[in-house]
Amino acid sequence: MSLADFLAALDQLAAEAPGRIAAAGTLDEWTAVRNALVGRQAGRLTDILAGLGALPKEDKREAGQRANAVKATIEAALEARHAELAAAATAAGPTLDRTMPARPRWRGAVHPVSLVIDEVVEIFRELGFTIALGPEAEHAWYNFGALNFPADHPAMDMHDTLYLGPEQVLRTHTSPVQVRTLQRYAPPVRVLAPGNVYRRDFFDPSHAPMFAQIEGLVVDEGVTFADLKATLSHFARRFFGPTTKTRFRPSFFPFTEPSAEMDVQCGVCGGAGCGVCKLSGWIEILGSGMVHPAVLEHAGLDSEKYTGWAFGMGPARTAISRHGIPDIRILYDADVRFLDQFAR
Ligand code: DAH
Repeated sequence: MSLADFLAALDQLAAEAPGRIAAAGTLDEWTAVRNALVGRQAGRLTDILAGLGALPKEDKREAGQRANAVKATIEAALEARHAELAAAATAAGPTLDRTMPARPRWRGAVHPVSLVIDEVVEIFRELGFTIALGPEAEHAWYNFGALNFPADHPAMDMHDTLYLGPEQVLRTHTSPVQVRTLQRYAPPVRVLAPGNVYRRDFFDPSHAPMFAQIEGLVVDEGVTFADLKATLSHFARRFFGPTTKTRFRPSFFPFTEPSAEMDVQCGVCGGAGCGVCKLSGWIEILGSGMVHPAVLEHAGLDSEKYTGWAFGMGPARTAISRHGIPDIRILYDADVRFLDQFAR
């Protein structure tokens, strides 16, 4: 090859390049043009430079300088075009692939225990109950003394109750809200008090150191045990279904007299007996009773004039039997795979 041929080939490349670079309309086309012009594998410039070695020694210097100049010009033009194309692509925004499967959207779900609380609240709201709240860090008197617990009751033991100080506890039940409500509002009183309570228990499949309770309280003149039974039976039929059977069993609580526990027929087996109801056909739903006169007096009410009834239930227990949840700890795990099932 002669110098003239070499330079002619370079000139031709230099003349052709601007048009080809300008014609690249996309970044992909630009890449193809760059490879064709100056690519190391099969670029035109690389081809031409391959002839450099065959030139006479005295021509190599000029040939090399001209080749470098052409290369620099082409590369500058390529870079400028790349900047234009990249800016245009950014302005156009990301390319949208309409065939791409949508990402599943986590929309959140109400916790099964909160669902029970909401439903219970709704049913009692229809009956004219309002919501009452009390502190979780509670004075020992409200938690025990005012509720007629005898001084040596085992519940007051450090073994069972979390004490914050000599006279302060984490409330072990929502019943202290009864006394706080009666001190504040004159009868007629009809309140529901949902809230968290604490017991000195370790987590195991059926115990938790903190759980929710719902307390109910009715106080007025002339309130009887018939009101208690009728109201709680109505609640059970609204909550579990219109044909739900209930039964009341005598029980004992320091703050009620008489006391009763209410069972509902097991919804899982329909009363035949199964694992959920431990073969009894019945599931205990709540404790209840006529408010003890001592409790009314502690709240400053005349127990000759007023009577009342109360109940306390554990919504976690209800959620567990409703859904057949095998271990109470699942309710505390915040595992979206579990919670997702309750999304509505
Ligand atoms: N406070 C009781 C408990 O934690 C539940 C309870 C039973 C509440 C009977 C009541 C009641 O109001 O009348 O086990």
